[in-house]
Formats: sequence, structure tokens, C-alpha cells
Amino acid sequence: MSLYAIGDLHLSFSVDKPMDVFGRVWKNHEKKIWKYWNKRVTDRDTVVVTGDHSWGRNLEQSRKDLEFIAELPGRKILLRGNHDMFWDAKKTQRLNEAFRGRLEFLQNNWFAYEDYALVGTKGYCYEGLDTYEHFEKIRDRELERLRISFEAARMSGISGEKADISPAFGSEELRPAGNRKYIMFLHYPPTSIGEASSPFTRMAEAYGAAKVVYSHCHGKARFDDSFKGYVNGIEYKLVSGDYLNFKPELILE
Ligand SMILES: [Fe+2]
Repeated sequence: MSLYAIGDLHLSFSVDKPMDVFGRVWKNHEKKIWKYWNKRVTDRDTVVVTGDHSWGRNLEQSRKDLEFIAELPGRKILLRGNHDMFWDAKKTQRLNEAFRGRLEFLQNNWFAYEDYALVGTKGYCYEGLDTYEHFEKIRDRELERLRISFEAARMSGISGEKADISPAFGSEELRPAGNRKYIMFLHYPPTSIGEASSPFTRMAEAYGAAKVVYSHCHGKARFDDSFKGYVNGIEYKLVSGDYLNFKPELILE
């Protein structure tokens, strides 16, 4: 039983979006995903898919892409990417109901994996594509969603009541219920280019996350945009599909 992660599958079974214009690594990439996933992952394993699943602009256009993922071996937990137009963050519960038993959607909630709580959100970093004020607004919304995910895990199981989301970030005991450890998933890199820390890395440190896993970075020029390896005791891993040549990355044996 193992935990894997991979992101940015960028599937387009229903819309015309050839990916091989982005380089040779993308040629027939859906066939590579199928081949390597089936080689590595069994039905006893869990895979967190870290966003940008589909080019579809709505659920109907994304259905074949989601069905493709659902048919792959293992338990699949999906995170939202910046291109996932089919996924309204406020209606995540609907997706969880529609795909119950086949796909799970991580947003304002968390999932247990052995001794770990899997938490996450899309995240955000500054790429020079919007004004700094707009960047801060989106980043802060994502930070709040991440905090809700951490808090839901931390408060779960306490007196069997619905988690009481505490607003007092950073000021109290932040370990998750049942002495679980956290693994934090983001779609965007945890830092903007050149940053030595960010509100996302500080939140990972405040909650004592064991690992931070992210994707979104495409092409050799972007693979070093953010942290890889250990920083302040947390292991950072980049799992974008093209970085991995579409082989799901082992996160926990
Ligand atoms: Fe992305």
C-alpha cells in the first residue's frame, strides 16, 4: 500500500487541445499516463492528482477526462488546478457525490491515508500575469481554504462533533487529531520565483507538515521555480506530469 502523486495531466478527450506543441514529452502523453500508472499503481494504492486534469470548460466537456482518471488503478484524490473550469470550489460536495466511490475531490476538506492527513488547495504564486493586488486577493483566499483543510483534519474526531474552525491560526496546538501527520498538496508552487518563504510555506511549518507536494511548473526552465528537497525540515516535491515524464511519483511507501 503506497501513496503516489502526479499533476497536470492536461487531458482533452472532448476538446481540441493538442499538447505535443509544448514539446516531445507531451506526445501521446495520455498513453504514457495509462502505461506508467498501470505499471506502478495497484488498487491498494492511493494517488493524489494535483490539478489541471482537464481542458474542458465545463463538467460535460471534462467528463471523459475524469472518467479516464477514474478508470486508472487505485484510490484517486483530486486537487483543483488553475485550468479546472469544471470544478466550482464552492460546489465540491456535488462532485464528491457525483463521483462517489470513484474519485474524491480535495477542497475545504481532508482525507486520511494511514497515519497521515492529506490536506490541500490550489494555492497561488505571483507569475506577473495579474496586478499584485489581485494576486494577494487570490492568494489570501487560497490560504484560507488551506487553513480550513488543515483545521478540518486537526479537529476531526474531537467529541464526534462537526469541526469547529478556529480563526486563531498559529497560536495553538496545531497537530491533527489522532496524532496524524500532515501532507500538504498544492497545485501552484508554494513560493513565487526568488522567494525564500511564503505564507504557504509558513503555514506548512506552523502545522508541522511532513511534506509539501505541488505541480503546475512545465518545461525545464520552470522546474526550479520553487523548493525541491528539504527546507526547514519539510520535504518539498514537484510532481508535474512532464517533470515526471508522466510516471506517478512515490510519496510514501
Ligand atoms: Fe497549472
